[in-house]
Amino acid sequence: MSITDLLNNAPDQEPERQYYFIEEAKKIVAKKEQEKGRKLTCCVTTFGCQMNARDSEKLLGILKQIGYVETEDENADFVIYNTCTVRENANNKVYGHLGILHGYKKKNRDMMIGLCGCMMQEPTVIEHLKANYKFVDLIFGTHNLYKFAELFTTALLNKKGMIIDIWKDTDKIVENLPISRKYPFKSGVNISFGCNNFCSYCIVPYVRGRERSRKPEDIVEEIKGLVADGVVEVMLLGQNVNSYGVGLEEKVTFADLLRMVNDIEGLKRIRFMTPHPKDLSDELIEAMATCDKVCHHMHLPLQSGSTEILKKMNRRYTKEHYLGLVEKLRARIPDVAITTDIIVGFPGETEEDFLDTMDVVDKVHYDSAFTFIYSKRTGTPAAAMENQVPEDVVKDRFDRLLALVQKHGHDKVQSLEGTVQEVLVEEVNEQDASLVSGKLANNVTVHFPGDESMIGKIVNVRLNCCKGFYFIGEISE
Ligand code: SAH
Ligand code: SF4
Ligand code: F3S
Repeated sequence: MSITDLLNNAPDQEPERQYYFIEEAKKIVAKKEQEKGRKLTCCVTTFGCQMNARDSEKLLGILKQIGYVETEDENADFVIYNTCTVRENANNKVYGHLGILHGYKKKNRDMMIGLCGCMMQEPTVIEHLKANYKFVDLIFGTHNLYKFAELFTTALLNKKGMIIDIWKDTDKIVENLPISRKYPFKSGVNISFGCNNFCSYCIVPYVRGRERSRKPEDIVEEIKGLVADGVVEVMLLGQNVNSYGVGLEEKVTFADLLRMVNDIEGLKRIRFMTPHPKDLSDELIEAMATCDKVCHHMHLPLQSGSTEILKKMNRRYTKEHYLGLVEKLRARIPDVAITTDIIVGFPGETEEDFLDTMDVVDKVHYDSAFTFIYSKRTGTPAAAMENQVPEDVVKDRFDRLLALVQKHGHDKVQSLEGTVQEVLVEEVNEQDASLVSGKLANNVTVHFPGDESMIGKIVNVRLNCCKGFYFIGEISE
């Protein structure tokens, strides 16, 4: 069939339209299989956050329905990179990898290469790819990911040149497309897409568009389906879960949603990512305290401890407000684990500002923290700010901060030694097959004697020995 015929016969409605393309692609792929005398392979490589990981499961779900067999080897018939652009080094990684793919493609002329995700929403990236990476077959962005089946089928039939489809924004959410989960027993679940906060350093609002919430009933229905399929733990995903509900007709808060999800029978654990401190309500703390399935773990990004820098970052809270939230959380949920993200070297950050960050870290005593060196993202307000901090100064601050958060993290983990905790068993240990590995509610890892049959189950484990950031334990009856 020609591309024109294919498009002319397609239904207008979603998701029916995508299922039509899946059927058409299946026929093309079956023919190729016959020619080659083997199944076709695909490799989906994910960069970036949980949001991207979930999107990759959507890509893989469609590819598997079309007939591809999944492989981790990038020397495959179809390779797609789901990219991230939150920091400069994320972009560099992609360009580096692409060089290797080109080598594979020279040996396998039929190989197809796709690029999608956040980095593709940057016009300069597309220009660069068009000029220097002509061997790429398909490029699309974050807003039209639901159209993957359609774009991929078109690329299968396309004889020459790149197919590029990038949208500036969308208000559309398409439900009920195939998904292939990485883990049988746990899953991410999108609750909102995009971000309206425009923190001055951050590129996410530009590449993920305006905030849109999924309807609560769609979320609950998806989770019920997941539970029926063996899932016991969900992670509710949004750039700012605390503002969940924005744009929906009915008035529903994130705390309401947590309570609805908590009522789902058969589900055992609920996590969420990421709450913004400016919108962390008492109602949410209360919901977290009273919903028995919600893990006592709050990832609460600080970014900076200096009120002055927070203002320049457009974070809309102060040092004191943040510390107040931590106090409230700990008062209501004494065993809550608190983790964070911190940026070092934001433009204009003085030694005094940095000491404010160290002060907050010292006061909060985080269970763990992701620390990042500020990365200039073209187009964001911070990129145009004066007083970018010299590299050696940033490096020195980064090292001091890292030493402190690691010390605290270690203390926190150590403090649980000897206790019995609930653990979700995730896998057989890679180094020692007599052990299994699992996660505590606070996200810390424990290894203990066990076997494959325990994967996906929640068991009580005595945390015998702390090994820095993880435990060696044993089943406790
Ligand atoms: N929506 C989430 C996180 C999104 S990005 C939130 O608001 O917390 C994940 C983390 O990357 C951020 O928390 C921040 O610490 C870091 N980050 C974002 N932009 C960055 C930049 N330009 N340079 C360095 N780190 C950055
Ligand atoms: Fe970026 Fe801020 Fe939105 Fe998080 S809340 S994605 S840091 S703009
Ligand atoms: Fe990266 Fe996009 Fe996530 S920029 S951090 S993959 S939202």
